[in-house]
Amino acid sequence: MSESPNDNRDPAPRQSLWPVGFAVGVAVILVGLVVSWPAMVLGAALAIVFGVLWIRDTARTHAPVDSAAAHALVDDEPSAQRAAAEEQHLETYGRSGFLALATIGVGGIIGAGVTLPSLGFAVLPSFTGEAVDSPDVDLGPITNFPEGTFTITSFTSNPVQGDVSRRTAYIRNNGLTKEKQPSFTIIYSRCVHLGCPVQPNGPRFEDKEVKFKDVTITPVQPAGFGCPCHGGAYDTEGNRTAGPPVRSLDRFAFSIKDGHLILGKHFSVGTVTGTGADATMTRYRQAYPGVHVDGIERWLYPIPVPGT
Ligand code: FES
Repeated sequence: MSESPNDNRDPAPRQSLWPVGFAVGVAVILVGLVVSWPAMVLGAALAIVFGVLWIRDTARTHAPVDSAAAHALVDDEPSAQRAAAEEQHLETYGRSGFLALATIGVGGIIGAGVTLPSLGFAVLPSFTGEAVDSPDVDLGPITNFPEGTFTITSFTSNPVQGDVSRRTAYIRNNGLTKEKQPSFTIIYSRCVHLGCPVQPNGPRFEDKEVKFKDVTITPVQPAGFGCPCHGGAYDTEGNRTAGPPVRSLDRFAFSIKDGHLILGKHFSVGTVTGTGADATMTRYRQAYPGVHVDGIERWLYPIPVPGT
């Protein structure tokens, strides 16, 4: 029987949904870069799975094999012809298949070269967090912090950096908790809108200032805290009461060692409920000013404001 002119043509490429899945995976990665790293991991998994399936599919579809003829030869033809047919059967990479795979491979390498560095810059801060001040700053004897009184406490957070690392915290000795543990409210003075220094709204008692090494402790009687830059206002627990700040003022953890108040880790706070020793709050990893740490806004406004 004569051979049809169409018999040797490459079969039309099969339609595949794998590229769509791959594209969705890449899109999820990009969204994850902005929203959260779990979404990015999900996107990467999707991209890898669908990418592999796509490459496998591409490799299979580029093999114009006359398998019926090859199998027919198995029983009827001499061994040389059978070997040739089997060789044809084993050739799974035609020129178009090679070009397709080469294009995908080169594109993948270029894509990785472009994506990985920016991915590193975008993702690593999620794992490392913002640079954290020295966690152990000795603020001196707790007797320098009168119970029930706020103090403006200035200290050097990193002795190596010197005065550029001077920080201010508003510290109130709350006395003891129900469990008879010392309680301190330690509010960081940095405004959580754009980082200006918030000020206590109330009289300062400079004449009662005390010093411990380079720590200065000045009693103050605030009705709240205000930010001079854009009118942000906070109550005495650091909750935002007015203006553009997006969350409560950050706080510091603390410990007591040999009768001294030791400044601990800086952390961020959503909303504080209760006051003083009875205050409850959820701690979040130290966040930049302008960043929501809780609620739906955390998902709607995930982009941090760098450099503040
Ligand atoms: S920086 Fe404080 S209100 Fe804007």
